[in-house]
Amino acid sequence: MLLHIPDVLTQEEVAHCRRTLDNAAWIDGKVTAGYQSAKTKDNQQLDESDPAAQEMGSLILNALERNATFLSAALPHKVFPPLFNRYEGGQNFGTHVDNAIRQVKGTPHRVRTDLSATLFFTGPDEYEGGELVVEDTYGVHSVKLPPGHLVLYPGTSLHHVRPVTQGARVCSFFWIQSMVREDFARTLLFDFDMGVQRITMDVPDHPSLVQLTGVYHNLLRRWAEV
Ligand code: NI
Repeated sequence: MLLHIPDVLTQEEVAHCRRTLDNAAWIDGKVTAGYQSAKTKDNQQLDESDPAAQEMGSLILNALERNATFLSAALPHKVFPPLFNRYEGGQNFGTHVDNAIRQVKGTPHRVRTDLSATLFFTGPDEYEGGELVVEDTYGVHSVKLPPGHLVLYPGTSLHHVRPVTQGARVCSFFWIQSMVREDFARTLLFDFDMGVQRITMDVPDHPSLVQLTGVYHNLLRRWAEV
C-alpha cells in the first residue's frame, strides 16, 4: 500500500524546520548509501549526529505519535531517527531498494525497514522535477506533496527520485519496523480499522461494532510481533 498522509506537521512546525534547514550544514548524501545505491545516489544530507537534524527528528517523531492515520497504517514497532535530504542542480537518486536493516549510528539499535516514509518540506511549486517514483505490485506511482505531508510505502518497493532541474527539494526520510511485517496483512488491518471507524461515526450504537473491534484485535494479536 502506498498512502498519502496530509498535514503530519502543522504550518508552524514546517516553518520552524524550514528556517533550520535553510541554515543547515549539508554534506554528500553517499554517507548513508549502501555499496550499490552509492553509485546512483546524488544528493545532500544532514549528518545523523547534527543537533539540528536530531531536534527536527524529535519534532517529527512526536508528530507521528499523535497521527492516528500513521499509527493505524504503519502499526509502528520502531521508527528510525528521521534523516534529511536536499536535491538541486540536476541532483537525483536512481532506481534502488532500501537496505533491509538499518543500524542507528552510534547505538546497538537496528530497524528492519518494513516501510519507507518521505515527509516533504518544500512545495511542488518551489522546484521542477524531484518526483519520488515508487514501483510496487500495483504499478508506478509518482509522488510530489505539499509541505508537511507524508508518503508511506512498502520498503520492498523499487524507487527513485527524478532530477531536480530547478529550485531545491528538501525532505525528511526514514523507515519503520512495523509490528506486522507483511504488507498484505498490514493493509488488511488498516482497511478493517478504517471501516470500523466509519461505522462508529455513522451508527455509533451499532451492535456489531463490539464484534468487529474484537475481530480487528484478534487479527492483530495473531500477526503482531512486539
Ligand atoms: Ni531509497
